[in-house]
Amino acid sequence: MPDYLLRIRRYDPDSGKTAYWDEHTVTLNPRNSVLDAILKVRNEVDGSVGIRCSCQQAICGSCGVRMNGRPGLACNTHLEVAAARGGGAQSTVPQTDGEGPAGVIEVEPMGNMPVIRDLIVDMDAVHWKKIQRVTPYLINRKPVPEREYIVPHENMVDITQTMACIQCGACVSDCLSMEVDPLFVGPAALAKTYRFVGDPRDDQHEQRLRDLSEDPHGIYDCTHCFNCIDACPKEVAPMSQIMRLRRRAGSDHKIVDSNNGHRHEDAFVTLVRDYGLLNEAELLPRSYGGNSWFGKFHPAAGKELLSSLPTVITGVLRGKVSPKIAMFGHKLPGGDLAAIKKLYKKIESRPQRLELNLYISGYEDDPEPAAVAAGSSGEAPQAESSASESESS
Ligand code: SF4
Ligand code: SF4
Ligand code: FES
Repeated sequence: MPDYLLRIRRYDPDSGKTAYWDEHTVTLNPRNSVLDAILKVRNEVDGSVGIRCSCQQAICGSCGVRMNGRPGLACNTHLEVAAARGGGAQSTVPQTDGEGPAGVIEVEPMGNMPVIRDLIVDMDAVHWKKIQRVTPYLINRKPVPEREYIVPHENMVDITQTMACIQCGACVSDCLSMEVDPLFVGPAALAKTYRFVGDPRDDQHEQRLRDLSEDPHGIYDCTHCFNCIDACPKEVAPMSQIMRLRRRAGSDHKIVDSNNGHRHEDAFVTLVRDYGLLNEAELLPRSYGGNSWFGKFHPAAGKELLSSLPTVITGVLRGKVSPKIAMFGHKLPGGDLAAIKKLYKKIESRPQRLELNLYISGYEDDPEPAAVAAGSSGEAPQAESSASESESS
């Protein structure tokens, strides 16, 4: 079995000492998990290593850490996979046998949350507080039926993805918006919100959406960095759920928030339709002053333009902004622009917006794979993946 060099970030805030890297060589199968390696060190070498874990089956969500710079579940990450990511610094331990370890794995506590000790972060202080912020339970419609609520199959398919969340906090760990704005409600809590906004039994869809649209740290505070999608071990895709909340808020409930989030999106969409490319110089005045060329003459837009003048002047002086492009924007050539307009026309002419949920494919009554194979000519049957489409109400 190969050797792995495990570098564990050790820190005890009560000790008054700074954080340091604690290095151990562990001999384990490459298919063992990073958690196996940490527990081996804790059980056999140093019982003081702080790690939180329980199920060791990627179910309880308690072993979230960063491994070679990426967040995830330690129990669900093979040593060979973590080592292959690289990113681990070189060992400070001299190799005496001339052969290096099979891989170096740096394990750190998750980000955006205070460290309690070593790899244990304070989930209560950040993650759970944000979950509580979004009223994480169903507020049922009245009158309550005498028997059970019947929920359409499409709706359950639609929210199953968010229900898969195990509250591990990996997405919170690497959320760039939260790093800049610690008050941001965040990916996990917003994904949780979609679990109720997409559920027809819930009575507070509009109130939930209005609340999180008006909150300056709500749904429009996400910067689309995709980190939460990469981090999530359960494919909840929190960023996609946030975008769905925005579509529900803006398109379905016509909520125009005081943070200009919805106006900004509207301006974005219109500019791409009209120019084929984003015209940044027009984006700001339209987001604040109204979605037309005249938006720049609105007092709210004037104020914003004035405050961004130093940035624009610096950009022009450094050659990053061309005054001509800033004034008139880019525009695609006629044929390409026509193709884009055609796409818009096709989408906008649909009577209803369709949400494509790729998380679950197939239905219970799809033919069994064996039945498909029985009718084939001996070749391996083609996997049929039917992405289920769920209509948004
Ligand atoms: S996509 Fe949005 S919610 Fe997700 S990590 Fe980035 S900023 Fe945070
Ligand atoms: S959305 Fe994914 S990464 Fe975030 S807490 Fe839930 S399971 Fe963990
Ligand atoms: S120990 Fe439960 S998810 Fe890792």
